[in-house]
Amino acid sequence: MTGALSLPQWSVGADAGAPPPAPESIHGHGTLRDAHGRTIRDLRISLTDRCNFRCVYCMEPDVRFAEPSTLLRADEFVRLGSVAASLGIRRIRLTGGEPTLHPDLGSIARGLREATGCELALTTNGARGDAATVADWRRHGIDRVTVSLDTLDPDRFARLTRSRTPLADVLSCIEHCILEDLGPVKVNVVLLRDRNDDEAVAFAELARRLAIEVRFIEWMPLDSGRTWRSDHWVSASETRRRIEAAHPLVAEPTADPSATATTFRFADGERGRVGFIAPISSPFCGACSRLRLTADGKVRPCLFSDREWDLRPLLRGGGSDEDLRRFLVDAAWSKQAGHGIDAPDFVPPPRPMSAIGG
Ligand code: 5AD
Ligand code: SF4
Repeated sequence: MTGALSLPQWSVGADAGAPPPAPESIHGHGTLRDAHGRTIRDLRISLTDRCNFRCVYCMEPDVRFAEPSTLLRADEFVRLGSVAASLGIRRIRLTGGEPTLHPDLGSIARGLREATGCELALTTNGARGDAATVADWRRHGIDRVTVSLDTLDPDRFARLTRSRTPLADVLSCIEHCILEDLGPVKVNVVLLRDRNDDEAVAFAELARRLAIEVRFIEWMPLDSGRTWRSDHWVSASETRRRIEAAHPLVAEPTADPSATATTFRFADGERGRVGFIAPISSPFCGACSRLRLTADGKVRPCLFSDREWDLRPLLRGGGSDEDLRRFLVDAAWSKQAGHGIDAPDFVPPPRPMSAIGG
């Protein structure tokens, strides 16, 4: 493993200032738009960069986390969510790191729900999702849950996540989410060459058995240890071919042009679906409608942005809601056309995925 030597390459929080001003006519619209004709409707809020797992493709065991004092407070997350909703944000996803580690997850979810009326989704690793906790998520206003899970083999699970959480806990979290109707429940899977790429069919069968959507995400070069290697990611088309050899698929028409996944049903009519998120083999930036807020108050127009804008000076320096609105409109306007991951001169962003929010 790469160890501490890999850490200085990430410069978390560097270069964060205020975004350049958008044209005044854009401020007049009252929505978040970018300079490429896209309207921003989705906000991803990372509640913490911490995690109780150390997945091999995401976080090195000795990853450094942000200082707690730099992180936003519950009331600040809620205020920003409500300002964003006043600018046309319709869906909010709470991510991490691992968002369920945040002690105020419940009050943040409730606050956002009441202040924004947005659809509220949660992405979790499912380690802390027993029956009572999942019922609480529902009570606090969470509508949908996506669980990350990369293997169905208990020993492999321990090796991939470098945690002591039993695989059975994550599987039961998925089942509680289904029972609580936190759906459509989705499971995110990252396949890695020679580690778990032989499990594509097993995951498709999980989708069939539980009538859920399993989505395969291509591994992106966003891990804290910079261990990404081009011969270790597994393409959506390869995964699809493996699944189709066992269970023929039928493409579903895409209802939402900003959706990240292309989804398929099973040709034999069995319930459940599979989806493919292919940021490497077919970048989906064209209709992207997302804006990201990091746990330490930076607005990032794209997962791969090399720029991010710091909201804390405004938030903590007496800025009005109107000041925050102007800031968000300016930040959205600066959204780049695409992430450029397929370009030969691609440079990974200055933060790992766990410090941005997936
Ligand atoms: N590439 C692709 N997916 C990743 N995830 C975390 N790191 C990476 C990466 N480098 C996934 C997690 C989670 C989702 C939010 O992103 O497994 O399911
Ligand atoms: Fe934690 Fe998710 Fe990263 Fe795994 S992939 S270490 S669960 S943030």
